[in-house]
This record gives sequence, C-alpha cells and structure tokens, in this order.
Amino acid sequence: MRLLVTGGCGFIGTNFILMMREAHPDWNIVNLDLLTYAGNRLNLLPLEASSRTASGGDYSFAHGDIRDPEFVSALLEEHRIEAVVNFAAESHVDRSINDPAPFVSTNVQGAQNLLERARRHGVERFVQVSTDEVYGTLGPEGRFSESTPLAPNSPYSASKAGADLMVRAYVETYGLDAVITRCSNNYGPYQFPEKLIPLMFLKALRDEPLPVYGDGRNVRDWIFVDDHCRGVELALLKGRAGQAYNFGGNAELPNIELVKTLLDLLDKPHSLITFVKDRPGHDRRYAMDYGLASRELGFEPRVSFSQGLTQTIEWYRDNAAWLDQVQSGAYRDFMDQWYGERK
Ligand code: NAD
Ligand code: TYD
Repeated sequence: MRLLVTGGCGFIGTNFILMMREAHPDWNIVNLDLLTYAGNRLNLLPLEASSRTASGGDYSFAHGDIRDPEFVSALLEEHRIEAVVNFAAESHVDRSINDPAPFVSTNVQGAQNLLERARRHGVERFVQVSTDEVYGTLGPEGRFSESTPLAPNSPYSASKAGADLMVRAYVETYGLDAVITRCSNNYGPYQFPEKLIPLMFLKALRDEPLPVYGDGRNVRDWIFVDDHCRGVELALLKGRAGQAYNFGGNAELPNIELVKTLLDLLDKPHSLITFVKDRPGHDRRYAMDYGLASRELGFEPRVSFSQGLTQTIEWYRDNAAWLDQVQSGAYRDFMDQWYGERK
C-alpha cells in the first residue's frame, strides 16, 4: 500500500508508523508533518536512515502543512498515494482553551483540505483519527456508542467534531471512501509531556508538585497506544465507508487514583499531589462502548493498564534525553502561563 500518514512525528503517529513498518514491511509510507512544538522528527530518524526494507517498502518524511493545497496535492501525485490516515492535529485541550484559533485552522480546515485533495486525486481510503471527546461528557453511568450525539465541550473537541462532520459530508456528497475512529485517552512512549501521564512522571521525578485539576474525580478510560494503533490499522483495512468506530481500553480511572498509582510505582510520596484550579468546561467522565469495532473489525485492547503503565514508565526512564529535548521554549512558556493561572 502507498500510504500517507499525517502528524507522524507526534505521539500516536510515531507509534503507528513504527508498528506499520513491522507489520507491513512492503508498504510505502510517507509522513507529512509540520513539526509544531508537539512534532519531533528525531522519533523516526532511524527509519529515514534506512528507509528501504528488504520487502520493497519505503519510508519518507515530508515537512509541510495539511492546510496547504498545493503541497498536499503534489505529495499525493508524486507518491501515487492510495490511502491517507490523518493524525495531524492540535491535540491539547488546555491549549485550546488558551487559544482556539489554531485548532479550527488545523483540525477543521486542515482536515477539509486533506479530504478535498484526497477526492481530487482519487485516494481510495481515508481514515480520520478522531476522539471520544466529541461526545462530550458522561454522568456516573453509561458509555459512549457511535450513535451518541456529538456534544463537544472544549474548543479542541469542537474542532475534532467539526472534522468528523466534514468527513461525513465528503462521504455523502462525493462518495469518498472515508472512516472515522474515535478513541479514548492514549498513553505510552513518545507522548508529549503536557498530557497527564508524562507530565506527572516528569514532575514526580523532579519532586515537584503534581497539579491535579479540581477534585481529581474526573474519569478517563486509558488505552495503551499500541492498542489504538491496531484499531486504526483495522479501520484502514476493514472499516466500512462512512462508519465511525469507537476504541477503548477497558481502564476507567479517576485522575487522582491514576496519579497515586504512578507515584507508588515511582516510589514517591502522595504529598507531592497538589489540587489546583479546575480546567474550565472539564468533562467529568469518558467511557467507551467499542462493541461495533469488536464485531466488525475484530478490535480488542490487548494491554492491561498495569502492564502498559509499567512499560511506559520504563520507556520514559530509558529516554530521559528525549524528554529533555522536546521541552522547547514554546512548551515552557505555555506551561508557565497555564499553571501560573491555576494556583
Ligand atoms: P500530538 O500533538 O502528539 O501530535 C500531533 C502531530 O501533528 C505533531 O507531530 C504535529 O507537528 C502535527 N501537526 C500539527 N499541526 C499540523 C499541520 N497543520 N500540518 C501537519 N502536521 C501538523 O497528538 P497525538 O496525541 O499524537 O494525537 C494524534 C491524533 O489522535 C490527533 O488527531 C488527536 O486528536 C487524536 N487522538 C488523540 C488521543 C490522545 O489521547 N492523545 C486520543 C484520541 C484521539
Ligand atoms: P489530558 O492528558 O490533558 O487529556 P484529556 O483532557 O484529553 O482527557 O488530561 C487527562 C485528565 O487529567 C483530564 O481529566 C485533565 C486531568 N489533568 C490534570 O488533572 N492535571 C493536569 O496537569 C493535566 C494536564 C490534566
């Protein structure tokens, strides 16, 4: 397959490309990434260095913007792309609260541009990587299914829902063969240290206060990134055009429990936990019914939360240089401002 992956230098995109290279060494993979503060080309440098596989597959990196029509068209043409998986996005809820504009620009307009280029160039399959957050929030009971109405609460989730609706419009109007995946909270290697698990890991190692929002009782369903990547692969290969598929990890946890577990694994005291001002519009609970993906695609999460968390901690311990290197000035400026306001 000749596959365009966008956002492949981010957390999930990196893991997806590494997994696809192993699983399908005959694929030609082009990674289009803008290298924002969250993108790190070094993640996949070994693939650039030995791009050709013995099975005739290839990997190449293209520095560019999913919002750029000419750039995307040229790439689709040059590599005769058959399928697109769109991971590229502004992905952090807190940043979207600070400044929604880049989220609309990349997540909605960027997705629309990719869809349009895909349509014009006869791309055979398009996978839009979306999120459970498009469904909004749950009370103590129930789970999101694919028929749950979209009710996003943050500028981030609203922009992802906007893209989902645009995908639907391209399927209905132009007959584009596109599917949507909606996954719960990912964790694992290469996650940028603004998200809960790597941020708390970093703070704990430095014996700094761990900032838990509100009362810490907000619940997330955690999935190891490899399980999400397998889900995206299944949607790419077997998904039904026009269908959205939920993926979840069967690991619902209140934030405070997760943070305590992490501290225990790191042998650090719970006294490092500091409750800070809540995130505005903070969704209370996410939980996923992934029965459809299970029945139609054969999706099941394989990695338990305790296995995945141990593996993740090991990776961050072994890759301290990676953690140092991704903390750019832009990262520090945002963190100082955001957490300064939460005291
Ligand atoms: P990330 O922030 O780690 O990576 C995003 C990548 O997109 C970066 O490499 C960045 O450089 C690139 N990018 C941003 N704007 C771009 C543009 N205009 N053109 C080209 N590249 C651009 O994000 P992630 O956590 O890996 O998430 C990937 C996708 O999965 C996103 O679409 C996100 O909404 C979705 N998702 C994430 C989670 C999660 O828990 N992290 C859960 C469900 C869905
Ligand atoms: P996050 O990793 O930002 O993912 P999302 O908001 O997409 O679910 O946050 C996960 C949960 O952790 C969420 O309920 C917010 C909470 N949280 C904190 O309590 N403190 C923090 O510093 C961060 C970043 C998140």
